[in-house]
Amino acid sequence: MSAAAAAGRAQRSWFTARSVAKATGGDVLQDGATGQAVATDTREECAGAVFVALRGDQHDSHDYLDRAVARGCAGLVVDRDVDVAAFAREASLRGARPPFVVRVADTGLALLELAREHRRRSRAKVVGITGSCGKTTTKEWLGAVLAAAMPTERSPASFNNKVGVPLTLFRLSPETRAAVVEIGTNAPGEIAQLTGVARPDIGIVTCVAPAHLEGLGSLAGVAREKSSLPRGLSADGLCLLNGDDPACREMAAHTAARVEWFGIERQADWFATDLRAEGAGTSFLLQGARRVTLPHLGAHNVSNALAVIAAAHHLGVPEDLVLSQLAAAPSASRRLERKRVAGVTILDDTYNMNPASARSSLQALADLSPAGGERAGGGRSIVVFGGMAELGDDSASLHHRLGEQVAAAGRDLLVCVGAAAEAIAAGAIAAGMAADAVACVADAQAAYGLLNSELRAGDVVLCKASRRVRLDVLVDQLVADLTGEDGAEASRG
Ligand SMILES: Nc1ncnc2c1ncn2[C@@H]1O[C@H](COP(=O)(O)OP(=O)(O)OP(=O)(O)O)[C@@H](O)[C@H]1O
Ligand SMILES: [Mg+2]
Repeated sequence: MSAAAAAGRAQRSWFTARSVAKATGGDVLQDGATGQAVATDTREECAGAVFVALRGDQHDSHDYLDRAVARGCAGLVVDRDVDVAAFAREASLRGARPPFVVRVADTGLALLELAREHRRRSRAKVVGITGSCGKTTTKEWLGAVLAAAMPTERSPASFNNKVGVPLTLFRLSPETRAAVVEIGTNAPGEIAQLTGVARPDIGIVTCVAPAHLEGLGSLAGVAREKSSLPRGLSADGLCLLNGDDPACREMAAHTAARVEWFGIERQADWFATDLRAEGAGTSFLLQGARRVTLPHLGAHNVSNALAVIAAAHHLGVPEDLVLSQLAAAPSASRRLERKRVAGVTILDDTYNMNPASARSSLQALADLSPAGGERAGGGRSIVVFGGMAELGDDSASLHHRLGEQVAAAGRDLLVCVGAAAEAIAAGAIAAGMAADAVACVADAQAAYGLLNSELRAGDVVLCKASRRVRLDVLVDQLVADLTGEDGAEASRG
């Protein structure tokens, strides 16, 4: 950065000791430099940043304050006694201004308060996205679409919690015109709190499904929690809701914002009809008028695309630009990512799993490889399912139902992995799948042992489980083996 640009940036930053203390309700223990950014991890860039010392289950960042100072941080936000004079000495040895030190009651809450103030100072239009699945996918696509039209920030990865949302908001600079913020939850009250911090101009709810039941109790609990985003929008805001989802429909009554619907199955403001699976993608008729092709599988992705189209429209992006960006938007990593190697197609959906995303993935697999007799080329349709985490008391019945769905879809082989394997297998066999077409294995490594000699050209394999089952390792091993056979790189679709 040039000196002039650095000076310009410095003038625009508000992270002084006094302002930070005011925003967080803290006390200034020592005045000092002005911060240009906010950091929470000394392994990342700290120079010129305000370091907020968070406490996690494993680590207490107060243990790393020396390191933050040595790495040139401009200020410290702490919630316990610290040796202020030592920080000033350390900085003066390097000829630097001392870092300011602000003491607050709770550094986690202080981070949220700083983010709230930073967002308040921004002119950017903020889009908040929540839902049980599809947040990252929708966020990535909308982020790409908006970035083609205006300076845009979006949450990195799935930064959707009490740390991730603030870190996303701190990316806003005076130039930023739009921000796409993923908002997640695994305990009641989180979405309300994060919505209050991000204050979205546009809110999107992708869908409601049994996920994080251990923290949220029941599907009704999930719906109540997700409805905090619509509830948190102001009267001049816009709420984009999935009209195909009964729980989302209920939310319209609980928002002051104007509501618009997106959907496939029912009448909606933003609608898609005549969905067709086309090779590795899906096409649909937008608003009954314009055929759009997405390079992604599954009706759920059409739903995500409709939310993107609606939000981008309201932020003034021309439709041609929206659709050309969507046509080029990559799959978010390991979300139904299509990998083809040596004639085998692997649908890598190993990022995560809950009952709703499992259903949409099975549907996408059926689009790609119809049941038995209708399939061209003779390849088999294989499902590798591991368990779904955090389902609480409903876990066994939801896994049983998952197996039933595989049987109903007419798949050729089902490999069930890990602790939930027996329940999935029992569901499949009870629903009529031949017992010799169902296998249970202990873990991803054992699944690899079973599949690596089994796969042949023409097969389509869907791999999906909650992250902790690590089916991503299985996919990588299969791709590496098949690539070796093929002598070529795997192609990604
Ligand atoms: N609208 C949708 N309905 C159902 N399933 C979906 C939808 N969108 C994406 N999925 C599937 O859900 C899984 C997770 O997708 P994605 O990462 O976009 O969701 P997320 O809400 O960000 O998840 P997380 O809560 O783990 O951050 C993938 O398997 C994806 O194929
Ligand atoms: Mg996510």
